[in-house]
Amino acid sequence: MSGAGEPREIFRPDLLRGKRVLVTGGGTGLGLSMGRRFLELGASLVICGRRGSVLEEAADRLKADTGGEIAWHVLDIRDAAAVDATIGRIFAEAPLDVLVNNAAGNFAARSETLSPRALDAVVNIVLHGSAYVTLACGRRWIAAKHPAMVLSILATYAWTGSPYVLPSAMAKAGLLAMTRSLAVEWGPKGIRLNAIAPGPFPTPGAWSRLVPRADLAAAFETSNPLGRPGQHAELANLAAFLISDGATFINGDCVTIDGGEWMQGAGEFCFLDKLTEAEWEAMRPQKGVRVDGSD
Ligand code: HXC
Repeated sequence: MSGAGEPREIFRPDLLRGKRVLVTGGGTGLGLSMGRRFLELGASLVICGRRGSVLEEAADRLKADTGGEIAWHVLDIRDAAAVDATIGRIFAEAPLDVLVNNAAGNFAARSETLSPRALDAVVNIVLHGSAYVTLACGRRWIAAKHPAMVLSILATYAWTGSPYVLPSAMAKAGLLAMTRSLAVEWGPKGIRLNAIAPGPFPTPGAWSRLVPRADLAAAFETSNPLGRPGQHAELANLAAFLISDGATFINGDCVTIDGGEWMQGAGEFCFLDKLTEAEWEAMRPQKGVRVDGSD
């Protein structure tokens, strides 16, 4: 285990004051944790999701806990017309400064069993839905010459790929391509796009769909060089930094926060972690003896 204590306060309490931030899927999971952090740091928050009761409960709790300004809108981001109408309503109240593409859909399945509707269910949320929201915001930012920032939540399998989550891997890869493409196209217009690729940050929604057994969950959460799962506060702090004015020269990048997980197994000699202490000692050259055995 390494560094598993509660993260300390590292920001000024007004870091995000004056920023209006939309978090898609902000009523639960990582979206809720990020939204809470943004409010604590002075942002005004808008959350959207498919279930009004979930959003209302989250908004009430966040308001009671932080005293911050929060609005919520029921929105299924797979519906392009509904996205445009809702983003129009949000901007009519006040322009957004930041969009966090957090809403996602995922489940573990053997790829050969996926129906077309199963593939679409995930890709339509993660890739198409995020693009609809990004374009709906971008059009308005560009028309108003309003500087802005888009942060998309990916996964490290956006570049490695991953078995058993094929639609999500394809969609996250597409979202990374959107981030890089628009970073260049919209950078001159004052709009930056960045991404975060989290490793294992347990949430009930993701774990219920992706990790069917407790023993597998434990192994998944600890099979990274730091030997522990991520804490939501660690992800939320990274997101807060990336949407803050401290990160205004970062554009088109994806920051990985996974304890080094994705590289574990990628290095050709990772198998050497199976060696015993005695075997390592036996491999060291002895004093006065050359490694090839000659002296
Ligand atoms: C095979 C499945 C399936 C499963 C659904 N389907 N679950 N197929 N295995 N486990 C199929 C259905 O049979 C159906 O196809 C089609 O998918 C649509 O299913 P619906 O239930 O009608 O879809 P819908 O209600 O729109 O739900 C969308 C969803 C659901 C994506 C399937 O899981 C969801 O709403 N998820 C949102 C929250 C979420 O997933 N959070 C986790 C994100 S974690 P047929 O052909 O039968 O009609 C993440 C990153 C993880 O993204 C990174 C970890 C490190």
